[in-house]
Amino acid sequence: MIKKMTITSIKKSKGVQPLVMITAYDALFAKLFESSADMILVGDSLNMSFAGKKDTISATLEQMIYHTNAVCMGAKNSFVVCDMPFGTYSNKDDALKNAIKVFQETPADGIKVEGGEDKAEIIKHLTSNGIAICGHIGLLPQAVRGEGGYKVKGKTPADELQLIKDAQAVEEAGAFCMVIEGVKAEVAAVIAKSVNIPVIGIGAGVNVDGQVLVFSDMLGFFEEFTPKFVKKYLDGASLVKEAVKNYSDEVKSKKFPKEEHTY
Ligand code: KIV
Repeated sequence: MIKKMTITSIKKSKGVQPLVMITAYDALFAKLFESSADMILVGDSLNMSFAGKKDTISATLEQMIYHTNAVCMGAKNSFVVCDMPFGTYSNKDDALKNAIKVFQETPADGIKVEGGEDKAEIIKHLTSNGIAICGHIGLLPQAVRGEGGYKVKGKTPADELQLIKDAQAVEEAGAFCMVIEGVKAEVAAVIAKSVNIPVIGIGAGVNVDGQVLVFSDMLGFFEEFTPKFVKKYLDGASLVKEAVKNYSDEVKSKKFPKEEHTY
């Protein structure tokens, strides 16, 4: 039986054991991940790897709710975080209304919102209304069009100072952990030390409190591009293509189905 993480055990893991977070978008994969991952993130990255879009911007709350329910069905013993999509938490009222919708319509344990100091008021409003928040600072995929591309953060002293302020504002607003994305490793390490809640890195080096990867990247299914920070633990695309080719060849040559596959 897998012991499900709680907000308390997640917070207590800081400085003790790195946290393992992975994305999932459906019940099938979520079930496969739950024995090794501490947390499952239903990321809005599903808009790219699942829905084939060029970025995360057009993901909707309805999609996130649908996929979160699927993940929770598959991984009943996992701590599941649902990503709030672009435009659903731009002000306090919308943020609370939409977060309540996620909590009422799914069994998700927490939600994730992108932003630092600029989103602290909104995060505080959510946490003080019973919503568990995972922050997300550094490179913010929902800002990609506004910033004109994916830009690594923490390259200047001013940038580093702002990231520290962001992390501390997110912590003070009541988040139980945060993701830090696309930040120079030495800067991410300083930021992780500047707060008392776990800072989970993606493209942020090893000296943080855990790692998160998008499952379709780390299993090698997503072929469009591979960011520098991704390690492929499986060549999923090749394995799937080879298997489907074998199936296709066997159907065409009438080698499948055999006697043992026939009623
Ligand atoms: O949407 C997502 O998968 C994410 C991860 C990149 C952390 O936010």
